[in-house]
Amino acid sequence: MTAAVSLPPAYRLVVLDSVGSTNEEAKRLAREGAEDGTLVWAREQTAGRGRGGRGWISPRGNLYLSLVLRPECPAWRAAELGFVAAVGLGDALASLVPPLVPLNYKWPNDVLVGERKAAGILIETESGLRPAPDAPLEWMVLGMGVNVQHYPEDIEFPATSLRYEGAGEVTVEALLEAFSRFFMDWANRWLDDGFPPVAAAWKARAMGIGKNISVRLPNETLRGKFIDLDANGALLLGLEKGGTPRRITAGDVFFG
Ligand code: BTN
Repeated sequence: MTAAVSLPPAYRLVVLDSVGSTNEEAKRLAREGAEDGTLVWAREQTAGRGRGGRGWISPRGNLYLSLVLRPECPAWRAAELGFVAAVGLGDALASLVPPLVPLNYKWPNDVLVGERKAAGILIETESGLRPAPDAPLEWMVLGMGVNVQHYPEDIEFPATSLRYEGAGEVTVEALLEAFSRFFMDWANRWLDDGFPPVAAAWKARAMGIGKNISVRLPNETLRGKFIDLDANGALLLGLEKGGTPRRITAGDVFFG
């Protein structure tokens, strides 16, 4: 299938009309040796997946992409690329939507319009971040879903779409092109200067830093103050009961 999109030459675009999950397809290609920059884009997904084992409802009209990356870094730095993608998407959206549309980030990698989620990112690696975090990262797949036209209702954290928020002129194609450019710029900055400039850009639009939040983990929910990101993007939570702040690498954040 051909696509009316033009990406920088660093990308290899794979266009699909319909697929179970672009992440699954990108992982399959990565295992077969697909090169860094292979980008799988589908018009719809029939078995889209979100973080924490949840589904990602994926009708036509939204953006679904998965990028194969082969960064020359240890596996423990993989999470930083989620922030690279979030700020790349935030800048892409800022270049396309009216200036008054409020774009925010929610830890770790969600993009919100106002206080409602418009985009999510799912990072997967062959071996996960454990058990050998110092081993070089052979490949990772960075999956992204953006609610351009549609959004799911009746989900735990409220969602929205660009169209609902008054940015209805944004097309999936324009967003894909803009994201590919801004992501490349930020990835190069990350390679040159490391995580600090990425973290600074993320914090400039982040919700909840310095405020009380809840973080739901698989077996408990913690309440405390979102102190800061650590040097690799983990959330530092000052617990209500005091003591050493908890370093959280995966979980669901709720405000208020
Ligand atoms: C989240 O839960 O916030 C992450 C959602 C990630 C969804 C995207 S859509 C493209 C890619 N393919 C998938 O199956 N999931 C990701």
